[in-house]
Amino acid sequence: MTKIIVKNSGSLIGTVCCSGSKNSALPILSATILTNGITSLSNIPRLSDIDNMLLILEGLGAKISQNRDKVRVDFNECKGYVTPYEPMSKFRGSFLLAAPLLSRMGKARISMPGGCPIGNRPIDLHLKGFAALGAAIENGHGYVDLSCKRLKGAKVYLDFPSVGATENLIMAGTLAQGETIIENAACEPEIVDLANFLNQQGAKISGMGSDTIKILGVDSLTPTEYSIISDRIEAGTFMSAFAITNGKGIIKNVNPMHLKPVTAKLTEMGAKITEKKNSLIIDATSSLSAASIKTLPFPGFPTDMQAQFSSLMCEAEGTGIIVETVFENRFLHIGELNRMGADIRIDGRSSVIEGPKKLSGAKVTAYDLRGGAALVLAGLCAAGETEIDGVKHIQRGYEHLCDKLHSAGADIFLE
Ligand code: UD1
Repeated sequence: MTKIIVKNSGSLIGTVCCSGSKNSALPILSATILTNGITSLSNIPRLSDIDNMLLILEGLGAKISQNRDKVRVDFNECKGYVTPYEPMSKFRGSFLLAAPLLSRMGKARISMPGGCPIGNRPIDLHLKGFAALGAAIENGHGYVDLSCKRLKGAKVYLDFPSVGATENLIMAGTLAQGETIIENAACEPEIVDLANFLNQQGAKISGMGSDTIKILGVDSLTPTEYSIISDRIEAGTFMSAFAITNGKGIIKNVNPMHLKPVTAKLTEMGAKITEKKNSLIIDATSSLSAASIKTLPFPGFPTDMQAQFSSLMCEAEGTGIIVETVFENRFLHIGELNRMGADIRIDGRSSVIEGPKKLSGAKVTAYDLRGGAALVLAGLCAAGETEIDGVKHIQRGYEHLCDKLHSAGADIFLE
């Protein structure tokens, strides 16, 4: 089984380049189902979640070719409406196939996403939205069956600004009859990217990036070329890697506007960050002090950066507090960090982190994607060697993580 071996690496110094955003690529790849023709996408990261999405699209009739970060999806014909259990069960983003399949085929049989280590992750908001747009919904045997003639625009208020539900409803409204309004919509940059992509193909979506999104349904879309945004969570992880090792570096292919909450927290902790047009410079050579963090939907501090900041806070002076408000069970990395010498207490949805602590390398396990990244960060500054199991979780979301960190001086490799 593959492991990541990471040794104390001293201060990281160098330049790293971010890949395209996984969380933009997944809905945009799924949205290619809406278009009768060839869509050419670039800045697509090579990750296992993306491979699984492409596998499912191929099974539905798409002809796919890949060349480095470019993916060409030919959806002249969509043959199926049933999504297979095996690849669907490997990533939660697979439920994003529901709206485009329903819209194009008039029916969709979607394998239920099931539980997830970081929380229960229900799909009720997606289903309430589909029902409001006129879909009939049936559950059974591990599948959700959706059907409709043509979806009809409606007003949908989301009880929580769910990223996935907002994306599914944008895709559902795109070819629906009339106007769809999503209230209390998620505002994440990936939502804006999906809407920009669809608008470039002729959709009529406005308000993306705000909490009210309006979609005026159109009859069809025209295939285009589109380059997706870069991965803000990967960028935030690299910023944390420089910070945890008191290093300094440049992070390229990043939109600093997408990282405002992360930049603000790192600055508060003592790092100096300079924002350029498509890059960030971080200087974390001074010692860091602890901070209080509450994860929130965008533009709040991202839950996808919570685990990495747990590691970072172990090296910072003082008591750090992190409140996780988005997912109910996203502290799986804490036990592993404590095995490495951290002093972290969990109290309900909060973790209290005493620092600075001398971490020591140990055998640890990644139980989820971002928790795995947190262990890599801890390994960079821990004494001796850290051996990380559960690498498949990390490979779901980080393209060439070891190579990229290695280029900034990290002693890290896959074994
Ligand atoms: C997306 C991201 C994930 C990120 C998360 C929050 C992708 C592929 N994944 O996940 O990396 O951590 O946003 O920023 O883009 N909820 C419900 N009912 C629903 C849907 C969601 O109760 O029908 C709850 C969830 O259980 C969770 C919260 O809403 O507690 C946020 O989930 P959501 O924003 O939907 O996350 P995802 O889209 O699954």
